[in-house]
Amino acid sequence: MRVLVTGGAGFIGSHVVEALRAHGHEPVVFDIRTDPTADVRSPGAVRDALSGVDAVCHQAAMVGLGTGFADAPEYVSRNDLGTAVLLAAMAQAGVERLVLAGSMVVYGEGRYTCARHGVVRPGPRTVTDLAAGRFEPACPVCGTDLEPGLVAEDAPVDPRNVYATTKLAQEHLAAAWARSTGGSAVSLRYHNVYGPGMPRDTPYAGVASFFRSALARGEAPRVFEDGGQRRDFVHVRDVAAANVAALTAGPAAGALTAYNTGSGTPHTVGEMARALAVAYGGPEPVVTGEYRLGDVRHITADSSRLRAELGWKPEVGFADGVREFAAAGLRGD
Ligand SMILES: NC(=O)c1ccc[n+]([C@@H]2O[C@H](COP(=O)([O-])OP(=O)(O)OC[C@H]3O[C@@H](n4cnc5c(N)ncnc54)[C@H](O)[C@@H]3O)[C@@H](O)[C@H]2O)c1
Ligand SMILES: [Zn+2]
Repeated sequence: MRVLVTGGAGFIGSHVVEALRAHGHEPVVFDIRTDPTADVRSPGAVRDALSGVDAVCHQAAMVGLGTGFADAPEYVSRNDLGTAVLLAAMAQAGVERLVLAGSMVVYGEGRYTCARHGVVRPGPRTVTDLAAGRFEPACPVCGTDLEPGLVAEDAPVDPRNVYATTKLAQEHLAAAWARSTGGSAVSLRYHNVYGPGMPRDTPYAGVASFFRSALARGEAPRVFEDGGQRRDFVHVRDVAAANVAALTAGPAAGALTAYNTGSGTPHTVGEMARALAVAYGGPEPVVTGEYRLGDVRHITADSSRLRAELGWKPEVGFADGVREFAAAGLRGD
C-alpha cells in the first residue's frame, strides 16, 4: 500500500514511516520540515503528493501548549486549515482511507468518580486553587476528593486549550469528510508519546522531553505541581504500530472511529522524572509546585477498544522504554 505520511519527518511520523516500510508498504513523506513546499495548507502540493496514494496517515500538526494565546492563529492554520485542504484534495483524488493523529487532549480532565455522586466532570482548575497548591480537582457537587479512572472513547469531549481545540476540530472535519465521501477515518487518540527522536524542549514539546533535556544539560528535571499528575506514557514504536494496524484494518466506511492509544498502565509525571533521572545517571528531580494553566491533573486511557478491534497491543514496557529513551538522543541535539 502506498501511504502519504504528512509530518513524516517529525517525531512520531518518522517512526510510522519506518514501521510501514518494515511491513512492506510504501510510505511517502510529506513534511514542511524537510521540504518547504510540502505544506498541508497548499492545495497544489497536496494534490501532487496524493498521486497514486491508497491511504493518508495525517501526522502533520503544530503540537504542544505554545507560548500563549497569540499562537492561536498558527495552530488553527496548520492543524485545521491544513486538515481541511488535505481532506478536500483526498475527496478530489478519490483517496478513501485516512488515519489521523488524534490526541487525548480532546477529553480535558480525565474520568473521576465521587464516592457520593458517581462519575462527575470537574471544570478547569482555578488559579487560586493552583497557587495554593490545591492540585486535585474536587467534586463539583460536594467538593470532596475524587478517584481518577480510565477514560474511554465515549467520554464527553472538553478541550481546554487552543491546541486541544484544533485536535478536536480535526476529528470533526475528518468525520464530515467520511460522511460526505463514504471514506473511512480513524483517529488514534495518542496519550503521552515518548521515545527516541523526541524533539528537544520547546514550548511545543511534551513533559518527557523537558525532563530528558534537563538531564542532557546536567540539570535536575523540574517537576511541576506535586508530581502526582497521572498520565499514560506510550512508546513511540507502539504508536507507530497502531498506525500500521489502523491503515491496514477494514474500518467502518462513511464514519470516523476513535481509538485511545495508550499503554494502559498509568504513571505519574513524578515517576517519569525519577525513572529517567535514574536511567540517565543524573541529578534527582526537583518538585517545584509550579503549574501551567490549561494542564489537566489526571488523564489516563482505556485502550481496550484498540486492542479488541485492531488486534494491537503495546510491546514496550515503561522500564525498558525509559531506559532506552535515557540513552537515545533527542531531535535537535
Ligand atoms: N507527541 C505526543 O505525545 C502526541 C500526543 C498526542 C497527539 N500527537 C499528535 O501526533 C502528531 C505528530 O506529533 P509529533 O509529536 O511527532 O510532533 P512533531 O512536531 O515532531 O511532528 C509534526 C511534524 O509535522 C510537520 N508539520 C507541521 N506543520 C506542517 C504543515 N503545515 N505541512 C506539513 N508538515 C507540517 C512538522 O514539520 C513536523 O515534522 C501531531 O498531529 C500531534 O498533534 C502527539
Ligand atoms: Zn461529590
